[in-house]
Amino acid sequence: MHFQWYPGHMTKARRMMQENIKLIDIVVELVDARVPFSSKNPDIDELAKNKYRLIVLNKADMADAKTTAAWQNYFEAKGFFVAKVNSQKGAGMKEVKSLIEKACQEKKARDKKRGILNRPLRAMVVGIPNVGKSTFTNSFAGKACAKTGNKPGVTKGKQWIKINKNVELLDTPGILWPKFENQAVGLRLALIGSIKEEILNTTEMAMEFIGFLKKSYPGVLVERYSVDESKENLEILEEIARIRGCLMKGNQTDIDKAGRLLLEDFRSLRLGKLSLEVPDAQ
Ligand code: G4P
Repeated sequence: MHFQWYPGHMTKARRMMQENIKLIDIVVELVDARVPFSSKNPDIDELAKNKYRLIVLNKADMADAKTTAAWQNYFEAKGFFVAKVNSQKGAGMKEVKSLIEKACQEKKARDKKRGILNRPLRAMVVGIPNVGKSTFTNSFAGKACAKTGNKPGVTKGKQWIKINKNVELLDTPGILWPKFENQAVGLRLALIGSIKEEILNTTEMAMEFIGFLKKSYPGVLVERYSVDESKENLEILEEIARIRGCLMKGNQTDIDKAGRLLLEDFRSLRLGKLSLEVPDAQ
């Protein structure tokens, strides 16, 4: 889903988050494994303070496995529980369930001390648009989609999905806003196709991407398009246009079309599994 954020939308999203967060024990925060920094909501630490936290590196099937492992270490070192997941295939869901229970162990023990037994842990999925919240929820809940219904004392209309005897999930994920102020973040979100409002046009995006590939994944452009990577970004894009027959009238190269082709190749994994950001650079 593409979403244009206006101040009104943000106020509403923040209000809903503040309302829902009171009902839950743990925030399950989805980020895109290719851009874990850029796809993180900027205010989540403040919104979710005093809650247990699990970061789900979703779309791990599209990211560079080594870099995803580095991100896992990075977030774990900051005290988060972390899972790597492919929601489309349902990979990693068992791990998410067990991490939720592990993260909330202390609360379980506290409940037990007070004589409260069998109170399920309540979780909520949050994340910026397009990060995979609906796909994750469907996959995570699986056949356990039976709702537990409204309970006394719970805001009317809230529905809980019973995951197992220990865990319940709020059925509507919290949609949060992305970081706006940072150009590099905007570029990366546009590259993964998460925001429609491209901050740059296709040609500019493609040239930035070529620059990134030359530096971070040398050889990828050579392998896919047989281009000379020592050339300037624009020259490489022109070469891709020529090689791939992206031509306009009069046999002029259509670099806009070549740019779209390059970005589409990236998003469809034809360039391989690539991550756009590494932890230590953030
Ligand atoms: P949202 O609720 O956070 O807005 O995201 P949503 O679940 O709609 O997912 C956004 C897109 O990301 C969908 O693709 C979805 O299939 C894809 N997706 C979600 N999780 C994963 C994952 O772990 N791996 C991969 N490879 N893709 C994932 P789409 O092209 O928008 O729709 P569709 O092609 O699935 O119909």
